[in-house]
This record gives sequence, C-alpha cells and structure tokens, in this order.
Amino acid sequence: MADEKKRLTTASGKPYTENENSMTAGPRGPILLQDFILHEKMAHFNRERIPERVVHAKGSGAYGTFTVTHDITKYTKAKLFSEIGKQTKTFLRFSTVGGEKGSADTERDPRGFALKFYTEDGNWDLVGNNTPVFFIKDPKKFSDFIHTQKRDPRTNCKSATMMWDFWSLNPESMHQIMILFSDRGTPYSYRHMHGFGSHTFSMINSENERVFVKFHFKTQQKVKNFTDSEAARMKGMDADWAQRDLVEAIDAGNFPKWEMKIQVMTEEQTKTFRWNPFDLTKIWPQAEFPLIDVGLLELNQIPDNFFFDVEQAAFAPAHVVDGIGYSPDKMLQGRLLSYPDAQRYRLGANYEQLPVNRCPYATNNYQRDGKMRMDGNGGGVPNYFPNSFDNIEADQSYKEPAEKLDSIVADWYDRNAEGENDHYTQPGNLFRNVFTDEERTTQVNNFLGSLKHVSGPKRELILNRQLCHFFRTDPELGARIAEGLGIEIDASMFAHH
Ligand code: HEM
Repeated sequence: MADEKKRLTTASGKPYTENENSMTAGPRGPILLQDFILHEKMAHFNRERIPERVVHAKGSGAYGTFTVTHDITKYTKAKLFSEIGKQTKTFLRFSTVGGEKGSADTERDPRGFALKFYTEDGNWDLVGNNTPVFFIKDPKKFSDFIHTQKRDPRTNCKSATMMWDFWSLNPESMHQIMILFSDRGTPYSYRHMHGFGSHTFSMINSENERVFVKFHFKTQQKVKNFTDSEAARMKGMDADWAQRDLVEAIDAGNFPKWEMKIQVMTEEQTKTFRWNPFDLTKIWPQAEFPLIDVGLLELNQIPDNFFFDVEQAAFAPAHVVDGIGYSPDKMLQGRLLSYPDAQRYRLGANYEQLPVNRCPYATNNYQRDGKMRMDGNGGGVPNYFPNSFDNIEADQSYKEPAEKLDSIVADWYDRNAEGENDHYTQPGNLFRNVFTDEERTTQVNNFLGSLKHVSGPKRELILNRQLCHFFRTDPELGARIAEGLGIEIDASMFAHH
C-alpha cells in the first residue's frame, strides 16, 4: 500500500500539478484569478476552526473497552450489563473546564470525564467529572458561574475577584471548592484520577423496579497529583502534558484502567436520607451506601486524527439507555437539553452522524435533511410516521415505568431554603476526617494562594464573606485562613445559620 502512489487532486478530485507556485502574469507579475486551486486552499483553511466547546474546550480522548466483571442485573436491565464478561466499545474524553482549547493541562480546575458506551440499545453518554460534587445545585446559575471562571470582560485576564465573589455569594459551592483547592485540583495526569457520574441517576430492572444510583470510576493507576508549584511549573514546561501522557501510555501498550462501581439508594431511602439525595453538592457517604463492583474500563486506542474524533465528539447527559434513567437532580435536568443544543451550534444539525458520535447499531427515524447530511438521508423510504409502507414500529417493551413525584405545586423554590442549607457538614468532614495534617496545610496554602489575588474596592467584603463559610465549615480552617490573610477574627464568623 505504501508504495502505491496517489495522485494529488483538488477537493472535487481534479488531478493538478502545481501545489507550490501560484499562476502569475510573468514570473514577477500579479496572481491570476483563474488559479482557483489557490483560492480553494485558502478558503478551506479559513474555515478550519469550529467553535470550541463553551466549557471543557481543552481535552484529550481515547477509545476503549468496558467489560462487565460483576452481576448487577438485579438493579438494571441495561443490555450492556446483561452478563459477566460482556464487552462494550467506549470513547472517553478528558478535559479541563475553564480554559480555552490551547490552555494548559495542569490548571487548577475540575477535570471532565465524558464516557460514551456504544451499546446495542443506543449510545449511553455518562458526562461526568473527576469530582463527585459540583459548585452549584441549580442549572440557572451555570452560565453565571462559568463567566467567573473565564476571563474578566475588561482586563481579559482570569480574576480571583470574580471567582471568590461568586463562591462567597453561593455557599453551596463550599464542598466543591474544598476539593478544587486540595491537590486533587491539579491531577498529575488524566490517568491518575477517579471519574464520577456525579449526578444521581436511576436504574430500572426487568421487573420495572427503580433504584437510584451514583457512578464511580476508580483509577487503577492510583490517584497522583501535582502540588500547586509543580502544576505551575509544568504549565510553562509543557502545556499539553496530560495529552502527551495519555498518548504515550496508550501507544506504549500501557493501557489505563478504571474500575466501575455504583452506589445504590432505594426509593424509600431517598425519603429518609438526611440530605437531599438529588443535590449535586452532596455525596452519599460510602459507609452507608457502599460501592458495588460492576466492571472494568480500559482505554486502548488513541484516535488517528484528533480533530476527527476528539474535537467532533459530542456527549449528552440526556443519552441514557434502556435500564438507566434520570433523576430529579435539578442540575441533571438542566443539562438534558443544554448539550445537544450546544452541539447543534458547535457541529451542526447532523452531528450525530459523525463517526465518533454515530450509533454503530441501527438508527431508524423520520429526521431528514439538514446541512451536511451524510447517512443516505433515509433513501427512498417514507419520511413520515405513521405510514403504510415501512416496517419501523415503536417497541412498547422499552417503555419506562411511571414515576410518582413528590409534589404537583409549580413554583420557584429557594434552592437553599431550610432543610437544603447544610453547606458545611460534608466539606467539614472532608477537612477534619479525610485529609491528613499535611493535606490540611496544603489546602490552606492553596486557598491563600488564590485569595490573596482578590482585589479592588470589594476586596474586604468578599474575603470576610468567604471567611464566614470557612469558619462554618471548620473553625480551624477559618482561623488559619484568617491568620494567613491577616484578618482580625470577629465572633460572628463562628455562628451557624
Ligand atoms: C447545568 C449545568 C451544566 C450545563 C448547562 C453544562 C453545559 C455544558 C456545555 C454546553 C458543554 C459543551 C458541550 C459541547 O459543546 O459538546 C459542556 C461540556 C461538558 N460538561 Fe457540562 N454543563 C453543566 C454541568 C456539568 C456538570 C455537573 C458536569 C460533571 C459532573 C459537566 C461535565 C461536562 C463535561 C465532562 C463536558 C465536556 C464533554 C466533552 O468532553 O465533550 N457539566 N457542559
């Protein structure tokens, strides 16, 4: 094959000979308009960029295999879990969140962990992060939050003032910022971090019984993090460190692996759990809801072309498969419509037909036309439903069981009302019971490293407001940060709401 010569052609297939010199009137004269190949080259080049993802723009991806190792069919009828040993092809895209497509891989940021399973019942996308919780609990706040993580509109620089202003005004962020400012905010590489579905999802078994679940992916490479200064140094040495690490490991046959596990809560348990089980700022303690083994995910192939598969990949939390369902988690609900909307804008209406996104099994429906249709567009068969000609039918065995909701009163409820306002117990436990002495010191220093950049006329207001949240999380944490900032402690900061 390598010896077989290929002819140079235009995009329309015309062989041409001159790919280096433009046609001119005389050797030193102006260029002629009729050299359309020059124009074709330039015009295509001008259209190479597509919009980067509005968040998670910088990322890396690989194909892999998911293998079932344990039987969870008592919880779900999803076909990919139907028997031990069953394998499903997957595609995983890792990412940072706040930076642009060319930003550094070692920024302090959550990491995206977006996983596509190509199952016979359609593609299942689990679009998670390397953290089990998130900064906010209502999707209406997402764009405001992300604006604070991106660039200041005037200086065009990242701004600690915007970030801490937002966080201090949204105390539900406390749990996630505790993780973000630990060394888990700067993972060594994508191979050395856990993945989480983060939201509460549901599972439905063959008896049509529903339970609620959280998904976990535990790295077999072990968690390994950069310190703040190591991450900063790596930013200057190799902005693409995590991409390079992934490619080199997989190309060397050193395939990274994650153990998939679930936590399960019955519908009854959701009613008595002491926190809202659908609140994305809370975890389910593993002592009460132990991890249940499910399977093994292995990444084993770097795509040949980054743009083709990684940049054009489109994941959507709405894409679950039979046997897996949503939950009332407001953040999940908000994400259901947002992703396909973003992808129609970023990639075009027919983005589901791009090879990385296409379901490798059958898709049958009456969606037709649109820009860049590539799948034959249904050929000559009817484009309307119902009809008397084709044999496509709605299979009733895929119907989801009805769901009983708690309330039929539509209103705008305060997300942090009484009963929903414990922002401090879980992050406090993390600080007191999970972190070691050394990790507590690291955390305090990482916080101080960021807080000292808060500036401007509202500096004192923002710092004092945030300090109250630190004190309520843990008095030692509050005191150490106050000391580091040189702020006199006032007794009111200790008070719990
Ligand atoms: C209401 C809250 C959220 C909204 C509205 C939102 C919206 C978006 C949008 C529009 C994109 C770009 C999609 C694309 O162009 O392909 C995106 C990407 C992403 N989001 Fe979210 N997001 C939210 C919360 C979350 C949460 C809670 C997580 C994780 C638990 C998450 C994980 C991701 C990941 C991993 C990607 C990158 C997917 C990829 O690799 O292509 N997002 N988000």
